Amino acid sequence: MSTEVESAQKAPTPEVLAEVEREHEEELVTAGDNLEALNRMRSQFFGPKGRITSLLRSVGQLPAEQRREAGARTNQLKQTLEAKLVVRINALESVEKEKELRRSRLDLTLPGRLAHPRGALHPVNRVIEEMVDILTRMGFELATGPEVELDWYNFEALNFPKDHPARDMQDTFFIASPDGKGTLEHVLRTHTSPVQTRELERRGAPLRIIAPGRVYRCDSDATHSPMFHQIEGLWVDEGVSMAHLKGVLTSFINALFGERGVRFRPSFFPFVEPGVEVDVGCVFCGGTGCRVCKHTGWMEILGAGMVHPKVLENCKVDPERYTGFAFGLGIDRVAMQRWGIDDLAHLFRSDVRFLSQL
Ligand code: DAH
Repeated sequence: MSTEVESAQKAPTPEVLAEVEREHEEELVTAGDNLEALNRMRSQFFGPKGRITSLLRSVGQLPAEQRREAGARTNQLKQTLEAKLVVRINALESVEKEKELRRSRLDLTLPGRLAHPRGALHPVNRVIEEMVDILTRMGFELATGPEVELDWYNFEALNFPKDHPARDMQDTFFIASPDGKGTLEHVLRTHTSPVQTRELERRGAPLRIIAPGRVYRCDSDATHSPMFHQIEGLWVDEGVSMAHLKGVLTSFINALFGERGVRFRPSFFPFVEPGVEVDVGCVFCGGTGCRVCKHTGWMEILGAGMVHPKVLENCKVDPERYTGFAFGLGIDRVAMQRWGIDDLAHLFRSDVRFLSQL
């Protein structure tokens, strides 16, 4: 800028300083409340190449006897003018800041917004946890087995002979063997009962286990899904009787549903003798009869029985020495009852809008 060059050559005489002061005054008026213009002024006058800076520098070129006074004058002016400018800039900046704060109205006392919505356990897992909790308190140990199972553990060892009609009721999915040939040796387990035979064979007696997990049947409608959940229980030891079965299952059902009454009916399953089906007083009508319980007042919830001696033998456990009972129940139905879910498929659609209501 030519003015800078000019003033760099001028010595800071009182006249020159008065002129600079006047200019400063004028520009201050022109800049008004324009913060940008004021900041520009600041560097024009006081920046490294600014007018005052140049004047200060030129003090050094004056004859020695003038330097002291000229330096003091220039410094004095610098301080006065820069202070004026800075006061103005600071005032405007704080007004701007105030405006900005008012505009964003940031209320620091508000609770924060969650960056990630909090998830929850799936209703099926909640029921599983509850059941496992009740049964482990009764001394049952948690066990697991594979979902792709051998025909032996899923059927044969459980006393389902090859052509037994009870196999038909299980709507089995068969798995091709690795060579691609359908040998019918591998199935998707149709129930959790194969964990009984696996664990009995592997660990022998005494044994007290529960085994929740996924099971598969070729069946699909509002109350059936090709994949669903069961929990199995097995207690084998010396002297285990039907009284143990009734006692354990009654406590289990009461803990799960509240005390609504428990009913045992004779039934058939190939791997138990005798076999029973167990009902609980209808959770919807409390036993007076409604559409859900088909006006019986009872809801069937599990199958059970005394372990068939043939099953113990198949698993190399001596049936003369050991006896036991087993039970199995569907978990999804319990979840449906608990939360009044009318379609089983809701449980497996993974729709957060549904799951977040529970
Ligand atoms: N596995 C049977 C089913 O899926 C349920 C069952 C019945 C399991 C009786 C048992 C039992 O352990 O003793 O239908």
